[in-house]
Amino acid sequence: MSMQEGDTAMEQTRPMNLVGGIAATAARARERRAGSVQLTGPKIVAEHFNFYYGAFQALADISLEFPALQVVGIIGPSGCGKSTLLRAINRMHDRTPGARGEGRLTLDGQEIYAAATDPIQIRRRVGMVFQRPNPFASSIYANVAYGLRLNGVRSRQQLDERVEHALRRAALWDEVKDRLHRDSGTALSGGQQQRLCIARAIATEPEVLLMDEPCSALDPIATLKIEELIDQLRAQFTIVMVTHNMQQAARVSDMTVFMLMDEKTRAGRVIEVAATAQLFTSPGDARTEAYISGRFG
Ligand SMILES: Nc1ncnc2c1ncn2[C@@H]1O[C@H](COP(=O)(O)OP(=O)(O)OP(=O)(O)O)[C@@H](O)[C@H]1O
Ligand SMILES: [Mg+2]
Repeated sequence: MSMQEGDTAMEQTRPMNLVGGIAATAARARERRAGSVQLTGPKIVAEHFNFYYGAFQALADISLEFPALQVVGIIGPSGCGKSTLLRAINRMHDRTPGARGEGRLTLDGQEIYAAATDPIQIRRRVGMVFQRPNPFASSIYANVAYGLRLNGVRSRQQLDERVEHALRRAALWDEVKDRLHRDSGTALSGGQQQRLCIARAIATEPEVLLMDEPCSALDPIATLKIEELIDQLRAQFTIVMVTHNMQQAARVSDMTVFMLMDEKTRAGRVIEVAATAQLFTSPGDARTEAYISGRFG
């Protein structure tokens, strides 16, 4: 379907208040955060960044700036390269044969893909939370202490303190403080497991948190808890979150990136980047508007 045909069909079936509804959500979220949103420099910068799986180009010419201490939401239809971009930021693709980045991608000015860059150091600075909660089959405590132990923290007192701190920050402490050593991380509910994974990710104090559809496996109440949590975490972490839920992007993110797959090459591209309230109120590209009003994707 060409863009033009699509436009006409879309005009006819346009769900009139959908864009308005999301726009209102985004505007409310912006008001709620007014004053707390800091104007900061970019933490992560992509400049003409390409990504390949073997011969297949999954990302084309990505140029983006992710501001420090803000939440950036990435939206777009399935297969447009959202996860690929997210994973490129902490070199999660290193073990995928044939996967490679090209162009500039920097963290505080440091080239993430330079030969001299240590991927382990990058992963220390950039934590990740996945779509499906993936706690280890060990105690709640051991889950959170894992990265700390890996980083050489041995003192029991220090571990105790930092595990508690991370669980408090992940809004899980009260629910698990009496079963830290008794219960396995896998014994928790889905929403609790996701907060445990967030605690595990933040225990080592990374600077950036990548979240790939962190709520898609959760019910609405657990989702709300994670969203509230992200709202707290933005004070300390630069957050990049992929979501299929546009209301969520409108509620949670300061800036929103809309991506789309190029119909000819099938490579993912950035179509539009804007302050969230603006993107959902007056998108600058017809394709963004079509997507956010549910007309394709
Ligand atoms: N390990 C891989 N090897 C080869 N191709 C891959 C690999 N991972 C992803 N791809 C391809 O790269 C493209 C982008 O995939 P990606 O997972 O980044 O999309 P996405 O936007 O996250 O989609 P979704 O919303 O479904 O999660 C797709 O065409 C996918 O098939
Ligand atoms: Mg994905």
